[in-house]
Amino acid sequence: MDLGLTGRRALVMGASRGLGKAIAAALVAEGARVAVCARDAARIAAVAAELGAEGLVCDLSKEGAAAAVVADAERRLGGLDILVVNTGGPPAATFESITDAGWRGAFEGLWMSAVGAIRAALPGMRQRRHGRIIVITSIAAKEPVANLMLSNSLRAGLHGLVNALSKEVAGDQITVNALMPGYQLTERLLELKVDEVAASRAIPAGRIGTPEDFAAFAAFLASEPANYVTGQAICVDGGVLQSI
Ligand SMILES: NC(=O)c1ccc[n+]([C@@H]2O[C@H](COP(=O)([O-])OP(=O)(O)OC[C@H]3O[C@@H](n4cnc5c(N)ncnc54)[C@H](OP(=O)(O)O)[C@@H]3O)[C@@H](O)[C@H]2O)c1
Repeated sequence: MDLGLTGRRALVMGASRGLGKAIAAALVAEGARVAVCARDAARIAAVAAELGAEGLVCDLSKEGAAAAVVADAERRLGGLDILVVNTGGPPAATFESITDAGWRGAFEGLWMSAVGAIRAALPGMRQRRHGRIIVITSIAAKEPVANLMLSNSLRAGLHGLVNALSKEVAGDQITVNALMPGYQLTERLLELKVDEVAASRAIPAGRIGTPEDFAAFAAFLASEPANYVTGQAICVDGGVLQSI
């Protein structure tokens, strides 16, 4: 299938490693021109060089940073057709251990970075009457995971935003979808000390996913053939989610 991504311009946020990097690589492989961003300047420069992408440095938890990085990507690529909203996950915590500052920090990093980036990207997409917005969330948004209170709650809200926004922009041929990782083997998973053997047993597919499994679906959502899929929250999880 021709995904029609040749020459499309994409920004993948949080892309110096893990799922973001794999999505950027998949888009480059399909012929898209890609910008990637993250906080660590050396690491994002290395990834940009490896992929043949534009590397941008930003801390998405800072006010205004997401809008600024979208503007920077638009300048470098001459516009944006595809926006992949992604950041690092918030720290693991239970409700009673999270301070107001913890909630506000996670809200800035997970929620306001999504709002800022999407708001900045929409005018150009509306003008060109074409756009693909993909928000990376988590299966925790559908079935809360123990000890991940910040992710469980804020990401469920993002699914509401994605669905409601999709209705507002569909007339301009812009799709907005959320993509939920289950267990994909990235540094984040290792940092969370997920027991790979136990996790694999709990996954109907019998194995932890790879970033490439996830990126392939993201590339499809960014594609021309996916033009009629919008407002959805879709998981790539080897069957882990129990709900229908
Ligand atoms: N892997 C999984 O199985 C899984 C499951 C459920 C949900 N998720 C969620 O999916 C997202 C991606 O997962 P991942 O496993 O690829 O995570 P990861 O390995 O931790 O990678 C996160 C990426 O985002 C960048 N980043 C983090 N904080 C940032 C910030 N404030 N500003 C700019 N860039 C930032 C990181 O680079 P710098 O550190 O250099 O900034 C890195 O490139 C995360 O939100 C994670 O919680 C993942």
